[in-house]
Amino acid sequence: MEKRVYIKTYGCQMNERESESLEAILGNCGYEMVNDEHSADIILLNTCSVREQAEAKAIGKSNLIARGKNREKLIGIVGCMAQNLGENLYKKSPPTRLIVGPNRIEKIPEYLDQLIRDKDRRITDIETGPIDRQFVAAHNEKKVKASMFVSIMQGCNMRCAYCIVPKTRGPEQYRLMEDIIDEIRLLAERGAKEVTLLGQIVNHYGANRMPSMDGKSPFVQLLEKIQRIDGICRIRFMSPHPNGFKSDLIESYGKLSKLCPHVHLPLQSGSDKILRAMKRSYQCEQFLSIVTALRERIPTISISTDIIVGFPGETEEDFQRTCAIFDHIKFDMAFIFKYSIRPETAAEQLGDRIPQEVKEARNQILLQRVEYYSRQYNESMVGMVKKVLVEAPAKHGEGRLEGYTPEHKKAIFAGTEDLIGQIVDIRIKSHTTSTLLGKIIE
Ligand code: 5AD
Ligand code: SF4
Repeated sequence: MEKRVYIKTYGCQMNERESESLEAILGNCGYEMVNDEHSADIILLNTCSVREQAEAKAIGKSNLIARGKNREKLIGIVGCMAQNLGENLYKKSPPTRLIVGPNRIEKIPEYLDQLIRDKDRRITDIETGPIDRQFVAAHNEKKVKASMFVSIMQGCNMRCAYCIVPKTRGPEQYRLMEDIIDEIRLLAERGAKEVTLLGQIVNHYGANRMPSMDGKSPFVQLLEKIQRIDGICRIRFMSPHPNGFKSDLIESYGKLSKLCPHVHLPLQSGSDKILRAMKRSYQCEQFLSIVTALRERIPTISISTDIIVGFPGETEEDFQRTCAIFDHIKFDMAFIFKYSIRPETAAEQLGDRIPQEVKEARNQILLQRVEYYSRQYNESMVGMVKKVLVEAPAKHGEGRLEGYTPEHKKAIFAGTEDLIGQIVDIRIKSHTTSTLLGKIIE
């Protein structure tokens, strides 16, 4: 059997980052990465469990791949769904021969070697435990882009009632600050200009394990160290929790020149009653005061969020409170999710009580608001000159490029491909709901 591998990634940025690491370590072990499933001998699905639909999609895909000409391909399911369903997955997806949880991904080359040798075997590894440090930092040298993800921690110690992540990824584990800095220095040497720090609760980095200094949390200390790395021009992070968003972090805005003026801060609900039921441990008032303090420092800062509609017990009045806070903050981007009951979470016992059509209607109402405020924000940028980090040719249209403003708004403009990886000044001329259209200033 040839060793050509195709990895399909579902879910969050953490999964994307782990697929990148997996690619790098497979490359070092004699496997060749390919860009489409048809030319692959081995197909790995790096999966997500956060909603039932995400699981159904990956299971459907694994069964679909195994049909017809593809019957001979070796299929592996890795990541959160592998951890959540374990060996039960073999029943849902009979062609699958490898099941590996997110804390054991670094073992995959070894397991694939064994499966290639022994065609009748299946391997399952959903052990939990410390993550391999080298694996977390692995990058394919040839694939360092202008903007890179850097994972700084794994797992989550919170117990949000709806969330499966503590089950699939285990308790929080923090990487050493020196290791993170070394990784980012290396990325900068290879051409990266922007890093996005990743963690389930990224601003919990080092909490209760590393000391605060001059009132600064380990996370803020890390941001300050990255600020000093030559070559890195932009720092982003995803996703923080409102609880750890203290004054030291707020004061970093405006003070650390590389820290981008965009914060993705999950609210989940605008009703204190529902937040309590979700075990989110903050109230709307606190959330609002973070947003106000950030806007006092940077008035044009972009604020985006995650909202869940249809959590058990969410009344029309609760939902109206979410709409009201949405209108008050005017989130210029938001992910709206319909509640999905997850096994072994605290909310499982509450049942899935809000009818599907009510969830759908609430979802639509919020999506309309996202569209409205996104347009309004984009409109406010027309006429401005923005620094855009050029990432790639635009998907549609010859001779056009795309990149992101510091606020993380996508900008499209005419330009030649030698500009990819550079930061250019773009005058914003017009916009759509989600994109800015502009022109390079010569
Ligand atoms: N149902 C719906 N949405 C969920 N999320 C997490 N768990 C669930 C669930 N059970 C959403 C939250 C989180 C985002 C990553 O996914 O909004 O912030
Ligand atoms: Fe899930 Fe809450 Fe942890 Fe986020 S913070 S991953 S929502 S448990």
